[in-house]
Amino acid sequence: MPVITNRELLGRSIATRSAVAAFNVITIEHAEGIVSGAERAGLPVILQLSENAIRYHGQPHAIAAAMVVVARASSADVALHLDHITDVALMRLAPELGFSSVMYDGSHHDFDTNRELTRQAVEWGRANGIWIEAELGEVGGKNGAHAPGVRTDPAEAAQFVRDTGVNALAVAVGSSHAMVEKTASLDQELIQRLRAAVPAPLVLHGSSGVPDASIAEAARNGMVKINIGTALNIAYTGAVRKWLAENPTAVDPRKYSAKARESVADAAAHYLRVAAGIL
Ligand code: G3H
Ligand code: ZN
Repeated sequence: MPVITNRELLGRSIATRSAVAAFNVITIEHAEGIVSGAERAGLPVILQLSENAIRYHGQPHAIAAAMVVVARASSADVALHLDHITDVALMRLAPELGFSSVMYDGSHHDFDTNRELTRQAVEWGRANGIWIEAELGEVGGKNGAHAPGVRTDPAEAAQFVRDTGVNALAVAVGSSHAMVEKTASLDQELIQRLRAAVPAPLVLHGSSGVPDASIAEAARNGMVKINIGTALNIAYTGAVRKWLAENPTAVDPRKYSAKARESVADAAAHYLRVAAGIL
């Protein structure tokens, strides 16, 4: 199966008023588990590699190459995306890595700087066939988008998209990164207002902390890409912890890594259905 682009996947989602789940890959078992979950669910999926995960590996090439091979070998439609990229040199590696889209993250800058750096990223993306997602946080843009209490202003977001030409926008609507309990409360009314105002697909980050029903509602209200990382790591690490507790003398990493991969597949299939509105 050829690897699909994010542009095409999200275009389909907008047409069907559903969302695609995008999962963060850290190890090869994450990638294998996620595509296996997508095949089981019969749904397309986005595999994404963050700057933090690249830092963990020391360089992007090995894990990105593994992701490309896993995606190509899958019977599911799989798009490949670089996530939370602040390093422009890293962004520019996307075509060479075989990835079709990048989230350029300028949310830690003030609004004007974020807008200018995002505009430059989009200009580069257009010239190189790469679809660019950006992030806009609070009014004035000082604290990033995904902290509790931060909200994106619809008028400011619309202006940001018009000024930069960005292909998709991550917005702050109540979710927060790295939550291990599903206690975040999304502002669904704000999501509707953002969808009405913003001329680009909307992206929800920090979705691990959001209850399933709220993710599905957010997708109905206009979120098109649902980013999930921590929930898969809870599944992965929980499976390893359980297996090692039951097998304290074992040493073969394939034994517990297989459990982790299977657990990631279950979680990915679940979230893909939630994002697609199949609860
Ligand atoms: O960009 C990645 C996501 O926003 C993941 O957030 O780990 O809180 O699910 P999460
Ligand atoms: Zn994120």
